[in-house]
Amino acid sequence: MTQTEDRIPLSTEDTPLVPIEKIVSLCKRRGFVYPNSEIYGGVSGIYDFGPLGVELRNNIRRYWWWSMVQTNDNVVGIEGSIITHPRVWEASGHVDSFVDRLVDCKNCKRRFRVDHLPKENLEQNKCPVCGGELTEPRTFNLMMETYIGVVEGERMKTYLRGEACQNIYLDYDNVLKSSRMQVPFGICQIGKAFRNEVTPGNFLFRQREFEQWDLQFLVHPSEMQKWFEYWKARRFEWYKGIINHTDRLHFREHGPDELAHYAKQAFDIEYRSILGWQEWEGIHWRQDWDLSRHSQFSGQDLSYTDPETKERYIPWIVETSGGVDRTFLFLLLDAYEEEPPSDKDKEGRTVLRLHPWFAPVKVAVLPLQKNKPELVTTAKDIHKRLQRLMVSQYDDVANIGRRYRRQDEIGTPFCVTVDFQTLEDQTVTVRERDGMTQIRLHIDELPAYLLERVRWDYNA
Ligand code: GAP
Repeated sequence: MTQTEDRIPLSTEDTPLVPIEKIVSLCKRRGFVYPNSEIYGGVSGIYDFGPLGVELRNNIRRYWWWSMVQTNDNVVGIEGSIITHPRVWEASGHVDSFVDRLVDCKNCKRRFRVDHLPKENLEQNKCPVCGGELTEPRTFNLMMETYIGVVEGERMKTYLRGEACQNIYLDYDNVLKSSRMQVPFGICQIGKAFRNEVTPGNFLFRQREFEQWDLQFLVHPSEMQKWFEYWKARRFEWYKGIINHTDRLHFREHGPDELAHYAKQAFDIEYRSILGWQEWEGIHWRQDWDLSRHSQFSGQDLSYTDPETKERYIPWIVETSGGVDRTFLFLLLDAYEEEPPSDKDKEGRTVLRLHPWFAPVKVAVLPLQKNKPELVTTAKDIHKRLQRLMVSQYDDVANIGRRYRRQDEIGTPFCVTVDFQTLEDQTVTVRERDGMTQIRLHIDELPAYLLERVRWDYNA
């Protein structure tokens, strides 16, 4: 086979932090993300995903599910509902404690979360933007209310879930009884969560409707520390494995004043972008908070009996909780690069150096010229063959250089070009996105060559 044998190298060289506006513009222009209800003026903190966005999103979700559920014998998955019994949110502590404290600047009218204010501004009661006086803090609950039932007076008020993981505690006993899991084991879920964020912003970073992934790992209390360290390390490596700029990742431990009401200890995996160091995933020591509270509020015994020792106890929980949307945003911020003109590309280009696993389109098939029916037919045949195996795009609009650039900008790792030589010897050019290197391959070798390069990596 005439090919380079290595997997695509990921760029480790540091590049300038990408302004968020560039990502917002690319997302709108190329069909990754659109503002929700745009024709009505939009709703802040809510977004829709376009044709490329939905592919990227699905790839992100699938990779997490594959690496957290399908490749771990001691982890299973569930998919719970968005709406639950309202008592769930009393038991979980969200009705009482899921709040943000806000202050307003009396002068410039800007609004700030108290926990986001620099210490000196808080102490001096001074606006960080204009120096004006701040109001007394006010408290807002973040839960989104909704109603079940149609008849006024009989309707039951409940909430859209404020964190997706509550379903896992609700289903934990059913999972135990219907699977052969024994402590220690984990339950995973990916699902939407809703929060009336008072300061949504920074594009997908802080939204009102977003998607979370959770692992709730149930352990014997005596093993809590061991498993907490285990998942902390594993999740960090997971994130390291999906980005180019691994030096933009670190842990930050929560101080006692910022711990969520359910957590005894918490570490954030943070990513550094133009937004500064920001949380990507939280690793929480939830202990027995959730199962004890649900036992107490529901009157159901949620303790576990060890099949060998017969010891009865409420399992303690290590939670790893991250965001699909933040992964989407951080992957784009990490992968986006504007390359100046070079010998390889005279005009310069914008390239998304996404890992091939995540790339929305894996391969583009391009006839060298649109007006040569033999080239077009062969290219369409190849596209149809590849489409059965991966997302392939056929493109014959504009000159070949522009078509390459179009694919680079959306992160397509491979372009296959059908030219006049193809008609003679059935070989095509395969161009690789990052290095812009080109090799020639026989058409029959293409599927195996590409599949090997876009499949999940088992060593990740
Ligand atoms: N069950 C624990 C929990 O919900 P969290 O730190 O509030 O913990 C977990 O949320 C993850 O969900 C965060 O690390 C982040 O990736 C994502 N997330 C939280 N709030 C978000 C928001 N308003 N918009 C987008 N993603 C959010």
